[in-house]
Amino acid sequence: MTPRQDIDIRPIHEDETRDWIRALNTGFQFPPTVSDADVRDRTTYIIPERTLGAFDGTRCVGTFRSFPQEVTAVGGTPVRADAISNVTVTSTHRRRGILTRMMAKDLAAAKERGDTVATLIAAEYPIYGRYGFGVATTTAEWTIDVPRAGLDPRWSGPDDGGRIDLVDGDDVRKTGPELHERLRRAQPGVVDRDERWWQVRTGALVVDPASWTEPFHAVYRNAEGEAEGLLTYTVDDHWGDVKQPLETAKVKDMIAVTPAAERALWQYVCSVDWVTKVRTGWRAPDDLLPHLLPDPRAARILTQADLLWVRVLDVVAALEARTYGATGTLVLEVVDRGGLSGGRYRLDASEAGASCARTTADAELTLDVSELGSLWLGDESAVRLAALGRVREERAGAASLADALLRTSRRPWCPDIF
Ligand SMILES: CC(C)(COP(=O)(O)OP(=O)(O)OC[C@H]1O[C@@H](n2cnc3c(N)ncnc32)[C@H](O)[C@@H]1OP(=O)(O)O)[C@@H](O)C(=O)NCCC(=O)NCCS
Repeated sequence: MTPRQDIDIRPIHEDETRDWIRALNTGFQFPPTVSDADVRDRTTYIIPERTLGAFDGTRCVGTFRSFPQEVTAVGGTPVRADAISNVTVTSTHRRRGILTRMMAKDLAAAKERGDTVATLIAAEYPIYGRYGFGVATTTAEWTIDVPRAGLDPRWSGPDDGGRIDLVDGDDVRKTGPELHERLRRAQPGVVDRDERWWQVRTGALVVDPASWTEPFHAVYRNAEGEAEGLLTYTVDDHWGDVKQPLETAKVKDMIAVTPAAERALWQYVCSVDWVTKVRTGWRAPDDLLPHLLPDPRAARILTQADLLWVRVLDVVAALEARTYGATGTLVLEVVDRGGLSGGRYRLDASEAGASCARTTADAELTLDVSELGSLWLGDESAVRLAALGRVREERAGAASLADALLRTSRRPWCPDIF
């Protein structure tokens, strides 16, 4: 790798937005020409001082953007995150250290600001571990062979006193944010959604009309009429040669804040006439779905992969923000090549919360900050990481204790990419 110090890395000026988007499109292999609508739209939400460009002379050859986010810790507390997105380096300038420089600049600013963690969704697995990020949540997508699932073909709605109604985008913009707030107070790994998120998903804001298909939105209400779930889906128009419907329903989003809502909405989408296949979209890895079907084998895994990556910037704040599965004390030696969060920390944890402070006591578990990112939301196992040689027990049994404290009975999940 030849570092290119002649490349200027700095926040963009507003009049450089179009060139920055051109570089972004180029990095993601989209046609590079930028529409006026795209420039207008991005200007409404990008934060110029947190939108970095890498400039070779006047030409933008690298892009990197961050924005404030909240990610829900175990126990339901939202934690301040530096959300990273739009990371590209143009192929003519790759592997000269440009990403490394953009990342260092952004993470240093996030640390200075007092953000607890940084978050991102990785296009490719090998990129971000070197910067201290670890896989904190995973996702799964299933395809359901509806005729094989064994559901009752006479099903006509929930049998628990609740009901399902199709609603339009205006209704979703009222109901959706409230439901999502309930979800994120309960589900570790969920990130906040802003108003624009709902506008884009409901067609109130369409930047590229060619790529917009209006979806259906189904709301589940309980017997008291209270909304507990929202399912957004599209259906293709596919028939076989012998007058045979073979349509696929694609789930774009599903929020369920009670198991009743989750059961009813899955049953609903699998019962729409003409639909013979359901693609679930990216769901929690332990979604109830397969086991809601009389024949769970009708749900075939299409994707099972990492989703949210977390980089701990403030170990004390991150560990104090969450609750724990047991009461116990653990001394962690955190190794951080990035120089942001390393050190020895004593965690005094309990079901109600924790206190954490720097210590000089002997370390019980030594781990890289990226492994701490993987353990933080409770999904990964310290025992497994020890077996992989990725954490080191300095005291026998420390990894088991870490699992007893940190792991959760249901898995963390991030429904969104950003
Ligand atoms: C991924 C990308 C941003 C990397 O930018 P870059 O400027 O080439 O990265 P750097 O030169 O700073 O690389 C730093 C290190 O990461 C490694 N690296 C970078 N991208 C990698 C990749 N995709 N796979 C494996 N290793 C990678 C480099 O080899 C280098 O390793 P070294 O320190 O051991 O020499 C760039 O290749 C790109 O834009 N790819 C297409 C778009 C994309 O995937 N963006 C990420 C969206 S989440």
